[in-house]
Amino acid sequence: MKKFLLVVLILLPLTGWSASTNNWPMEEFDGDLENLPSLQSGFQLYTNYCLGCHTLQFQRYERTADDLGIPHDIALENLVFTGQKIGSLITNAMPKQESKGWFGAAPPDLTLVTRVRSPEWVYNYLKTFYADADRPMGANNKVYPNVGMPNVLLDLQGIQRQVCSEGNCDQLVLDPGTGKMSAEEFDAAIYDLTNFLYYTGEPTRLQRQRTGIYVLLFLVFLGCFTYLLNREYWKDIDGH
Ligand code: HEC
Repeated sequence: MKKFLLVVLILLPLTGWSASTNNWPMEEFDGDLENLPSLQSGFQLYTNYCLGCHTLQFQRYERTADDLGIPHDIALENLVFTGQKIGSLITNAMPKQESKGWFGAAPPDLTLVTRVRSPEWVYNYLKTFYADADRPMGANNKVYPNVGMPNVLLDLQGIQRQVCSEGNCDQLVLDPGTGKMSAEEFDAAIYDLTNFLYYTGEPTRLQRQRTGIYVLLFLVFLGCFTYLLNREYWKDIDGH
């Protein structure tokens, strides 16, 4: 019985995962924290299109600008629309209670969303909004069905519709010419936005990777000397 329970406990998360991901064919996402232009563009998209509803309450403008290589005056002029100071946390004035009434759910803080979900989930979520007249906001989502969030990137992407054949609706098609961006430009923009949220999920990751390289270089360096020293010790002993 105990063994059986153990097996169930081990298998439970696996079944949970497969049940919580629907069968939308997810595209891969490979974050790149070395790509500062991508992170900068993601930050800009975020402040323009997302911050009105979603805070980044664990992240300050100053640290973000420094990590992303943006001078403070440029950040203040182009990225801080809320009249806040460079040292402020990235917050907004969205009232929690009211917003719940407006959207059915309050917009959650997104600082850690790529860790709570996954970068891949966020990337696919942002790409799969489609027109659905049955939803209060006129939009639905393939990765998060019946989501309360409106399709805020509609003017960039254009109108996307689902196509069904034999009851299978796993295809989205764009009405040509309805968006300001081409499909490739939109993909790149969503990549940058997701990459930026990948960064906010763990801002020290970048630093850690760099430190890791120095540690490895040091170990190689130390290894050479240890080897030479070892040779020196054994030099006069017979057989070596
Ligand atoms: C008009 C307000 C609004 C704007 C603007 C907005 N969102 Fe949302 N968003 C919401 C609401 C409301 C929810 C919660 C929906 C639900 O749970 O049904 C949500 C949910 C999400 C989620 C899912 C979070 C989770 O784990 O459940 C992500 C990711 C997200 N938004 C990303 C973004 C990004 C990125 C942008 C900018 C491009 C953005 N949102 C702009 C209102 C907004």
